Amino acid sequence: MKWRTPIFALAAAALSLASDTGVQEPSLREAARNSGMLIGAAARSAQLSEPAYASTLAREFNMVEPEDALKWEIVHPEPQRFDFSQSDQIVDFATRHGMKIRGHTLVWHRQNPKWLTEGKFTSTELADILEKHIKAVVGHYRGRVFAWDVVNEAFDELHPGELRSTLWRDQPGIGPSPGAATEALPVSGRPYEYRPYQYIERCFRWAHEADPQALLFYNEAEAETVNPKSDAIYAMVRDFRQRGVPIDGIGFQMHIANLHADIVSIDTNIARFAALGVQVHITEMDVALPVDSNGNASPEDLQLQASLYREITRTCLSHPGCTAIQTWGFTDKYSWIGSHSKHTQGAALLFDRSYHAKPAY
Ligand code: XIL
Repeated sequence: MKWRTPIFALAAAALSLASDTGVQEPSLREAARNSGMLIGAAARSAQLSEPAYASTLAREFNMVEPEDALKWEIVHPEPQRFDFSQSDQIVDFATRHGMKIRGHTLVWHRQNPKWLTEGKFTSTELADILEKHIKAVVGHYRGRVFAWDVVNEAFDELHPGELRSTLWRDQPGIGPSPGAATEALPVSGRPYEYRPYQYIERCFRWAHEADPQALLFYNEAEAETVNPKSDAIYAMVRDFRQRGVPIDGIGFQMHIANLHADIVSIDTNIARFAALGVQVHITEMDVALPVDSNGNASPEDLQLQASLYREITRTCLSHPGCTAIQTWGFTDKYSWIGSHSKHTQGAALLFDRSYHAKPAY
Protein backbone atom coordinates (compact mmCIF):
# COMPACT_ATOMS: atom_id res chain seq x y z
CA MET A 1 0.00 0.00 0.00
CA LYS A 2 3.05 2.21 -0.18
CA TRP A 3 1.82 3.91 -3.33
CA ARG A 4 -1.12 5.43 -1.54
CA THR A 5 -0.96 9.12 -0.92
CA PRO A 6 -2.68 10.36 2.25
CA ILE A 7 -5.66 11.45 0.14
CA PHE A 8 -6.16 7.94 -1.23
CA ALA A 9 -5.76 6.51 2.24
CA LEU A 10 -8.37 8.91 3.50
CA ALA A 11 -10.77 8.06 0.71
CA ALA A 12 -10.33 4.36 1.38
CA ALA A 13 -10.89 4.90 5.07
CA ALA A 14 -14.03 6.88 4.28
CA LEU A 15 -15.35 4.13 2.03
CA SER A 16 -14.78 1.40 4.56
CA LEU A 17 -16.27 3.61 7.25
CA ALA A 18 -19.35 4.30 5.21
CA SER A 19 -20.14 0.62 5.05
CA ASP A 20 -20.38 0.10 8.80
CA THR A 21 -21.13 3.43 10.43
CA GLY A 22 -24.79 3.91 9.63
CA VAL A 23 -23.85 6.83 7.43
CA GLN A 24 -26.21 7.33 4.53
CA GLU A 25 -25.99 8.53 0.97
CA PRO A 26 -25.80 11.32 0.19
CA SER A 27 -23.44 12.53 2.90
CA LEU A 28 -24.41 15.69 4.75
CA ARG A 29 -21.85 17.48 2.64
CA GLU A 30 -23.36 16.32 -0.65
CA ALA A 31 -26.87 17.09 0.57
CA ALA A 32 -25.76 20.56 1.63
CA ARG A 33 -24.14 21.22 -1.72
CA ASN A 34 -27.31 20.19 -3.51
CA SER A 35 -29.27 22.77 -1.54
CA GLY A 36 -26.58 25.46 -1.65
CA MET A 37 -25.94 25.31 2.09
CA LEU A 38 -22.86 25.30 4.22
CA ILE A 39 -22.69 22.50 6.74
CA GLY A 40 -19.89 22.88 9.24
CA ALA A 41 -18.32 21.57 12.40
CA ALA A 42 -15.96 22.95 15.00
CA ALA A 43 -12.68 21.03 14.98
CA ARG A 44 -9.64 20.43 17.20
CA SER A 45 -6.23 20.41 15.56
CA ALA A 46 -4.88 17.70 17.89
CA GLN A 47 -7.45 15.22 16.56
CA LEU A 48 -6.76 15.68 12.85
CA SER A 49 -4.18 12.89 12.94
CA GLU A 50 -6.88 10.41 14.01
CA PRO A 51 -8.00 8.75 10.74
CA ALA A 52 -11.68 8.34 11.63
CA TYR A 53 -11.85 11.93 12.88
CA ALA A 54 -10.25 13.32 9.73
CA SER A 55 -12.20 11.18 7.27
CA THR A 56 -15.57 11.89 8.92
CA LEU A 57 -14.88 15.63 9.01
CA ALA A 58 -13.84 15.76 5.36
CA ARG A 59 -16.62 13.48 4.15
CA GLU A 60 -19.55 15.09 5.96
CA PHE A 61 -18.78 18.82 6.12
CA ASN A 62 -17.97 21.57 3.65
CA MET A 63 -17.05 24.09 6.34
CA VAL A 64 -14.88 23.95 9.44
CA GLU A 65 -14.19 26.27 12.36
CA PRO A 66 -11.35 25.97 14.85
CA GLU A 67 -13.00 25.20 18.21
CA ASP A 68 -10.33 26.88 20.33
CA ALA A 69 -7.25 27.42 18.17
CA LEU A 70 -8.03 31.05 17.32
CA LYS A 71 -8.85 32.19 20.82
CA TRP A 72 -6.46 34.71 22.35
CA GLU A 73 -4.86 32.36 24.91
CA ILE A 74 -3.73 30.07 22.09
CA VAL A 75 -3.11 32.39 19.17
CA HIS A 76 -1.67 35.34 21.14
CA PRO A 77 0.06 33.80 24.18
CA GLU A 78 2.48 36.68 24.78
CA PRO A 79 2.15 40.40 24.07
CA GLN A 80 4.53 40.32 21.11
CA ARG A 81 4.01 36.72 19.97
CA PHE A 82 1.33 35.10 17.85
CA ASP A 83 1.10 31.32 17.51
CA PHE A 84 -0.83 30.17 14.47
CA SER A 85 0.43 26.58 14.57
CA GLN A 86 -2.87 25.00 15.71
CA SER A 87 -5.15 27.12 13.55
CA ASP A 88 -2.87 26.66 10.53
CA GLN A 89 -3.31 22.88 10.81
CA ILE A 90 -7.08 23.25 10.59
CA VAL A 91 -6.91 25.80 7.81
CA ASP A 92 -4.52 23.58 5.82
CA PHE A 93 -6.81 20.57 6.35
CA ALA A 94 -9.80 22.57 5.16
CA THR A 95 -7.91 23.82 2.13
CA ARG A 96 -6.83 20.29 1.15
CA HIS A 97 -10.44 19.12 1.39
CA GLY A 98 -12.12 22.07 -0.30
CA MET A 99 -13.87 23.25 2.86
CA LYS A 100 -14.71 26.81 3.80
CA ILE A 101 -13.19 28.17 6.99
CA ARG A 102 -15.03 30.20 9.64
CA GLY A 103 -12.86 32.10 12.10
CA HIS A 104 -13.77 32.11 15.80
CA THR A 105 -13.32 34.49 17.57
CA LEU A 106 -11.52 37.84 17.64
CA VAL A 107 -13.09 39.34 20.76
CA TRP A 108 -14.48 37.42 23.73
CA HIS A 109 -14.38 37.70 27.50
CA ARG A 110 -13.16 34.12 27.98
CA GLN A 111 -10.01 32.18 27.15
CA ASN A 112 -7.88 35.30 27.26
CA PRO A 113 -4.22 35.16 28.37
CA LYS A 114 -3.20 36.54 31.76
CA TRP A 115 -0.89 39.11 30.23
CA LEU A 116 -4.04 40.68 28.77
CA THR A 117 -6.55 40.30 31.60
CA GLU A 118 -4.09 41.25 34.35
CA GLY A 119 -2.12 43.78 32.36
CA LYS A 120 -3.78 46.89 33.83
CA PHE A 121 -3.75 48.65 30.50
CA THR A 122 -5.29 52.07 29.94
CA SER A 123 -8.20 52.42 27.52
CA THR A 124 -5.87 53.76 24.85
CA GLU A 125 -3.42 50.89 25.27
CA LEU A 126 -6.23 48.34 25.25
CA ALA A 127 -7.68 49.76 22.05
CA ASP A 128 -4.24 49.61 20.46
CA ILE A 129 -3.72 46.00 21.57
CA LEU A 130 -7.13 44.98 20.26
CA GLU A 131 -6.70 46.71 16.92
CA LYS A 132 -3.30 45.09 16.40
CA HIS A 133 -4.64 41.67 17.43
CA ILE A 134 -7.59 41.84 15.04
CA LYS A 135 -5.46 43.07 12.17
CA ALA A 136 -2.74 40.45 12.78
CA VAL A 137 -5.13 37.50 13.00
CA VAL A 138 -7.47 38.53 10.20
CA GLY A 139 -4.46 39.59 8.13
CA HIS A 140 -2.76 36.21 8.60
CA TYR A 141 -5.79 34.48 7.08
CA ARG A 142 -6.75 37.15 4.58
CA GLY A 143 -8.44 35.52 1.61
CA ARG A 144 -8.60 32.13 3.36
CA VAL A 145 -11.03 32.58 6.23
CA PHE A 146 -14.27 33.54 4.49
CA ALA A 147 -16.19 34.58 7.63
CA TRP A 148 -15.23 35.76 11.10
CA ASP A 149 -16.99 35.83 14.43
CA VAL A 150 -15.66 39.29 15.16
CA VAL A 151 -17.25 39.63 18.59
CA ASN A 152 -18.65 36.78 20.67
CA GLU A 153 -21.17 36.94 23.52
CA ALA A 154 -20.95 40.66 24.30
CA PHE A 155 -24.50 40.93 25.64
CA ASP A 156 -25.47 40.00 29.16
CA GLU A 157 -27.75 37.24 30.45
CA LEU A 158 -28.50 38.72 33.85
CA HIS A 159 -29.30 42.25 32.69
CA PRO A 160 -31.24 41.70 29.50
CA GLY A 161 -30.38 44.07 26.72
CA GLU A 162 -27.24 45.38 28.37
CA LEU A 163 -23.67 44.69 27.50
CA ARG A 164 -21.82 42.22 29.63
CA SER A 165 -19.20 43.67 31.92
CA THR A 166 -15.90 42.61 30.38
CA LEU A 167 -12.36 43.73 29.96
CA TRP A 168 -13.35 45.23 26.64
CA ARG A 169 -16.29 47.14 27.97
CA ASP A 170 -15.10 48.43 31.31
CA GLN A 171 -11.83 47.14 32.81
CA PRO A 172 -11.02 49.92 31.82
CA GLY A 173 -12.43 48.93 28.47
CA ILE A 174 -12.48 50.69 25.14
CA GLY A 175 -16.24 51.22 25.25
CA PRO A 176 -17.98 54.19 26.84
CA SER A 177 -17.95 54.03 30.61
CA PRO A 178 -21.26 54.10 32.52
CA GLY A 179 -22.62 57.61 32.77
CA ALA A 180 -20.56 58.90 29.87
CA ALA A 181 -23.41 59.25 27.40
CA THR A 182 -26.74 60.91 27.88
CA GLU A 183 -29.13 59.56 25.28
CA ALA A 184 -31.04 56.35 25.97
CA LEU A 185 -31.66 53.45 23.62
CA PRO A 186 -35.30 52.44 23.51
CA VAL A 187 -34.32 48.88 24.33
CA SER A 188 -33.46 49.34 27.97
CA GLY A 189 -34.14 52.98 28.75
CA ARG A 190 -30.98 53.15 30.86
CA PRO A 191 -29.27 56.51 30.46
CA TYR A 192 -25.76 55.16 29.92
CA GLU A 193 -26.89 52.70 27.30
CA TYR A 194 -26.55 55.05 24.35
CA ARG A 195 -24.57 53.07 21.76
CA PRO A 196 -22.79 51.17 24.48
CA TYR A 197 -21.61 48.86 21.74
CA GLN A 198 -19.24 51.42 20.31
CA TYR A 199 -16.28 49.12 20.94
CA ILE A 200 -18.00 46.41 18.92
CA GLU A 201 -18.31 48.83 16.03
CA ARG A 202 -14.61 49.61 16.16
CA CYS A 203 -13.77 45.88 16.06
CA PHE A 204 -15.88 45.38 12.93
CA ARG A 205 -14.19 48.33 11.24
CA TRP A 206 -10.70 47.01 12.09
CA ALA A 207 -11.55 43.53 10.84
CA HIS A 208 -12.92 44.97 7.62
CA GLU A 209 -9.73 46.95 7.05
CA ALA A 210 -7.68 43.78 7.50
CA ASP A 211 -9.73 41.75 4.99
CA PRO A 212 -12.39 43.68 3.06
CA GLN A 213 -13.65 40.44 1.44
CA ALA A 214 -14.30 38.52 4.65
CA LEU A 215 -17.84 38.26 5.96
CA LEU A 216 -18.07 39.70 9.45
CA PHE A 217 -20.41 38.19 12.03
CA TYR A 218 -21.60 39.01 15.49
CA ASN A 219 -21.98 35.69 17.36
CA GLU A 220 -24.13 35.14 20.44
CA ALA A 221 -25.49 32.57 22.89
CA GLU A 222 -29.13 32.40 23.96
CA ALA A 223 -30.22 34.91 21.36
CA GLU A 224 -31.80 32.31 19.06
CA THR A 225 -35.34 33.21 20.06
CA VAL A 226 -37.03 36.60 20.22
CA ASN A 227 -35.99 37.73 23.71
CA PRO A 228 -34.49 40.80 25.42
CA LYS A 229 -30.99 39.81 24.40
CA SER A 230 -31.83 39.28 20.74
CA ASP A 231 -33.87 42.52 20.82
CA ALA A 232 -30.76 44.42 21.88
CA ILE A 233 -28.62 42.71 19.24
CA TYR A 234 -31.27 43.42 16.64
CA ALA A 235 -31.18 47.13 17.53
CA MET A 236 -27.38 47.10 17.22
CA VAL A 237 -27.32 45.28 13.89
CA ARG A 238 -30.02 47.58 12.47
CA ASP A 239 -28.04 50.61 13.62
CA PHE A 240 -24.85 49.15 12.07
CA ARG A 241 -26.59 48.53 8.77
CA GLN A 242 -28.10 52.02 8.71
CA ARG A 243 -24.75 53.68 9.39
CA GLY A 244 -22.69 51.45 7.09
CA VAL A 245 -20.74 49.63 9.79
CA PRO A 246 -19.40 46.54 8.00
CA ILE A 247 -21.46 43.70 9.45
CA ASP A 248 -22.56 40.82 7.21
CA GLY A 249 -24.09 38.31 9.52
CA ILE A 250 -25.36 37.14 12.83
CA GLY A 251 -24.36 33.84 14.40
CA PHE A 252 -26.76 32.02 16.67
CA GLN A 253 -24.87 29.45 18.71
CA MET A 254 -27.80 27.07 19.33
CA HIS A 255 -26.50 25.09 22.28
CA ILE A 256 -29.70 23.32 23.27
CA ALA A 257 -30.00 22.06 26.83
CA ASN A 258 -33.22 20.56 28.34
CA LEU A 259 -34.31 18.98 25.02
CA HIS A 260 -36.39 22.02 24.20
CA ALA A 261 -36.35 24.71 21.53
CA ASP A 262 -39.04 27.28 20.76
CA ILE A 263 -39.05 26.73 17.01
CA VAL A 264 -41.72 29.36 16.25
CA SER A 265 -39.74 32.04 18.05
CA ILE A 266 -36.47 30.93 16.41
CA ASP A 267 -38.19 31.13 13.03
CA THR A 268 -39.48 34.67 13.72
CA ASN A 269 -36.06 35.73 14.98
CA ILE A 270 -34.20 34.40 11.94
CA ALA A 271 -36.74 36.17 9.71
CA ARG A 272 -36.28 39.57 11.36
CA PHE A 273 -32.48 39.45 11.21
CA ALA A 274 -32.52 38.25 7.60
CA ALA A 275 -34.84 41.17 6.79
CA LEU A 276 -32.04 43.53 7.88
CA GLY A 277 -30.00 42.10 4.99
CA VAL A 278 -27.57 40.08 7.09
CA GLN A 279 -26.89 36.37 6.73
CA VAL A 280 -27.78 34.05 9.56
CA HIS A 281 -25.45 31.20 10.53
CA ILE A 282 -26.28 28.56 13.10
CA THR A 283 -22.78 28.42 14.54
CA GLU A 284 -22.44 26.02 17.48
CA MET A 285 -25.36 23.65 17.53
CA ASP A 286 -25.44 20.75 19.93
CA VAL A 287 -28.26 19.09 21.85
CA ALA A 288 -27.10 17.90 25.27
CA LEU A 289 -28.75 14.75 26.63
CA PRO A 290 -28.82 13.26 30.09
CA VAL A 291 -26.30 10.40 30.10
CA ASP A 292 -25.61 7.50 32.42
CA SER A 293 -22.24 6.83 34.04
CA ASN A 294 -21.06 5.21 30.80
CA GLY A 295 -21.92 8.36 28.87
CA ASN A 296 -24.90 6.75 27.12
CA ALA A 297 -28.23 8.43 26.43
CA SER A 298 -31.60 6.68 26.25
CA PRO A 299 -33.06 5.63 22.85
CA GLU A 300 -36.05 7.95 23.46
CA ASP A 301 -33.81 10.94 24.07
CA LEU A 302 -31.79 10.16 20.96
CA GLN A 303 -35.04 10.34 18.96
CA LEU A 304 -36.02 13.64 20.62
CA GLN A 305 -32.56 14.94 19.84
CA ALA A 306 -33.00 13.91 16.21
CA SER A 307 -36.27 15.81 15.98
CA LEU A 308 -34.64 18.96 17.38
CA TYR A 309 -31.81 18.76 14.86
CA ARG A 310 -34.40 18.16 12.12
CA GLU A 311 -36.61 21.09 13.13
CA ILE A 312 -33.73 23.55 13.45
CA THR A 313 -32.36 22.42 10.09
CA ARG A 314 -35.78 22.78 8.46
CA THR A 315 -36.23 26.23 9.94
CA CYS A 316 -32.87 27.39 8.65
CA LEU A 317 -33.50 25.87 5.21
CA SER A 318 -36.82 27.69 4.98
CA HIS A 319 -35.05 31.10 5.09
CA PRO A 320 -32.84 31.98 2.11
CA GLY A 321 -30.88 34.24 4.48
CA CYS A 322 -29.96 31.33 6.75
CA THR A 323 -26.92 30.08 4.89
CA ALA A 324 -24.96 27.81 7.23
CA ILE A 325 -25.54 25.21 9.90
CA GLN A 326 -22.62 24.22 12.05
CA THR A 327 -22.34 21.84 15.00
CA TRP A 328 -19.94 22.33 17.91
CA GLY A 329 -17.78 19.32 17.17
CA PHE A 330 -19.25 16.31 15.41
CA THR A 331 -18.36 13.25 17.47
CA ASP A 332 -19.39 12.69 21.09
CA LYS A 333 -15.81 11.55 21.61
CA TYR A 334 -14.70 15.19 21.55
CA SER A 335 -17.37 17.58 22.76
CA TRP A 336 -17.28 20.40 25.25
CA ILE A 337 -20.62 19.15 26.64
CA GLY A 338 -19.04 15.92 27.78
CA SER A 339 -16.08 17.69 29.28
CA HIS A 340 -17.80 20.58 31.03
CA SER A 341 -20.73 19.12 32.93
CA LYS A 342 -19.19 16.29 34.96
CA HIS A 343 -20.67 13.87 32.45
CA THR A 344 -24.30 13.97 33.56
CA GLN A 345 -24.96 15.60 30.19
CA GLY A 346 -23.41 14.57 26.92
CA ALA A 347 -24.04 12.72 23.66
CA ALA A 348 -24.85 16.08 22.07
CA LEU A 349 -23.59 15.61 18.53
CA LEU A 350 -24.36 13.77 15.27
CA PHE A 351 -21.84 10.94 15.64
CA ASP A 352 -21.24 8.76 18.67
CA ARG A 353 -17.81 8.11 20.18
CA SER A 354 -17.10 5.43 17.55
CA TYR A 355 -18.07 7.74 14.67
CA HIS A 356 -21.34 5.93 14.05
CA ALA A 357 -24.09 8.18 12.79
CA LYS A 358 -26.80 8.72 15.42
CA PRO A 359 -30.51 9.25 14.70
CA ALA A 360 -29.77 13.00 14.62
CA TYR A 361 -27.55 12.48 11.58
C1 XIL B 1 -15.73 26.06 24.21
C2 XIL B 1 -14.85 24.95 23.66
O1 XIL B 1 -15.67 24.01 23.02
C3 XIL B 1 -14.06 24.29 24.77
O2 XIL B 1 -13.11 23.39 24.22
C4 XIL B 1 -13.35 25.34 25.62
O3 XIL B 1 -12.74 24.71 26.72
C5 XIL B 1 -14.31 26.39 26.10
O4 XIL B 1 -14.98 26.97 24.99
N1 XIL B 1 -19.51 29.36 23.19
C6 XIL B 1 -18.46 29.63 22.35
C7 XIL B 1 -17.37 28.66 22.20
O5 XIL B 1 -18.52 30.63 21.63
O6 XIL B 1 -16.13 29.27 21.91
C8 XIL B 1 -17.23 27.76 23.41
O7 XIL B 1 -16.27 26.76 23.10
C9 XIL B 1 -18.55 27.17 23.77
C10 XIL B 1 -19.56 28.25 24.10
